[in-house]
Formats: sequence, structure tokens, C-alpha cells
Amino acid sequence: MERIDKILSSQNVASRSEIKKMIKQGRIRADGKIVRRPEEKFDPQTSVLEVDDIAITFKKHLYIMMNKPAGVLSASNDRYAETVIDLLPQELRRNGLFPAGRLDKDTEGFLLITDDGELAHQMLSPKSHVYKLYFAETDKILTENDVRQFAQGIRYGEWECRPAEMKIIDEKNALVQICEGKFHQVKKMFNAVGANVTYLKRLKIGGVSLDETLAPGEVRELTSSEIIDILSRTKAI
Ligand code: URA
Repeated sequence: MERIDKILSSQNVASRSEIKKMIKQGRIRADGKIVRRPEEKFDPQTSVLEVDDIAITFKKHLYIMMNKPAGVLSASNDRYAETVIDLLPQELRRNGLFPAGRLDKDTEGFLLITDDGELAHQMLSPKSHVYKLYFAETDKILTENDVRQFAQGIRYGEWECRPAEMKIIDEKNALVQICEGKFHQVKKMFNAVGANVTYLKRLKIGGVSLDETLAPGEVRELTSSEIIDILSRTKAI
């Protein structure tokens, strides 16, 4: 059970002080009855809450798919640069949202933004074997030897990573699947085989592909089946 003003502000209905005013004005109902005091408590999962006769669908967490554009930081806030959180439309803003895993500033594609720390942890932990699929353009003609090196696990000086799958699409372009999230991982893996990545886009997380109808910078909420599939262990490319 939680205070009504807290429940409604968590759902981005309005600020707590605005909700208190709305309560005074008799604009809020719970289970059909007008709520008189902000201290009144309800179960947000089972109570029917209405604001100005419009029912509020309670969502404990938000799961947002963004097609991240290049040039934007994967961070919750930054004093100077635009972040992915700044791109969210008003109706999807709420406290506690963060990008689950980072894409470099120049990387595009599927970024999950959520306030569910547990799901983010499972998605990002290499132990969960949730693979992320990337499309990479490079400046080198890729070979089957490069594919084998990726499959063996790349070592690059002190730096190393687990075996990964790479599939050459055509001369300089490839798909890569990894389940770790080391800093600049895909770029470093290609560097280790003598290639520079000139363009990188994340296409898939777990069993969920980027919705290609989303233009760069656009977002949509995951469906309930996608929330489950995002943690699925991906098969070979
Ligand atoms: N690997 C990289 O090098 N950069 C990214 O943004 C993601 C994976």
C-alpha cells in the first residue's frame, strides 16, 4: 500500500504538490470514490485510479527501446552534452530511468532505457549469456582468419574478451555477437585484427530486434513479450 500522491507522481501524472491540489479539487478517484487526502493509501497494482475520469494504467517499471542516434551520450545526465534521457518524450519521463548499458557517442541503434535495476543487471551480466548483436563497417577486408580469432576470444595486449561470433556480410562489413559489455569492446576486437570500425549499430539485445520503424532518436515501450525475450540467450547469428 502506498500514498496516493506518491503513486501518481511515480507514474508521471504530475508533481506531488500538483497532485495535492488536484485532490483538493476532487479530481482524483480511487475505486470509484473521490480521494480526499494525499495520505490515503492504496495498492497501485489492484486499485482503479482515475484522474479527471481517465484511468491511470499503473506501471511499476518502464522499458523503453530507443534507436539511439550518433552524437548523443548514453548517460542519465551530463552538464554539457545531450543525453539519451534528454531525448525522451514528456509522457515517458520519470525519475530513476537510466540507459541499461552504454553505446559509444558515435554508435547507433538499440538502447534499452529502464528504471528496473534488476532486469538491467541480468541483461548486462556476462554470466546471463544475453547476447548483443552489432552491425559493423570497417576499413579492412575481413577474412575467415579474423572470424576464427573472434571465435577463439580476442587478446590484445593486456586486454582480452570471451569468444564471440563474427559473420562477414561482405568485404568490410560484418555482424558481431557478444555477451560482455567492455568499454569499446567491438571496436577493440576489430582493432586486434587490424581493422578500424567506421560505423557501428546495435541491432538486437537477447531475443529482441531493434524496431526498424523507429527513426534515430525515436522510442517506444517494449511489449510484455519483449520484456521477457530481452533476457533470452540468443542462438548463433
Ligand atoms: N562496442 C563498442 O566498441 N562500442 C559500442 O558502442 C558498443 C560496443
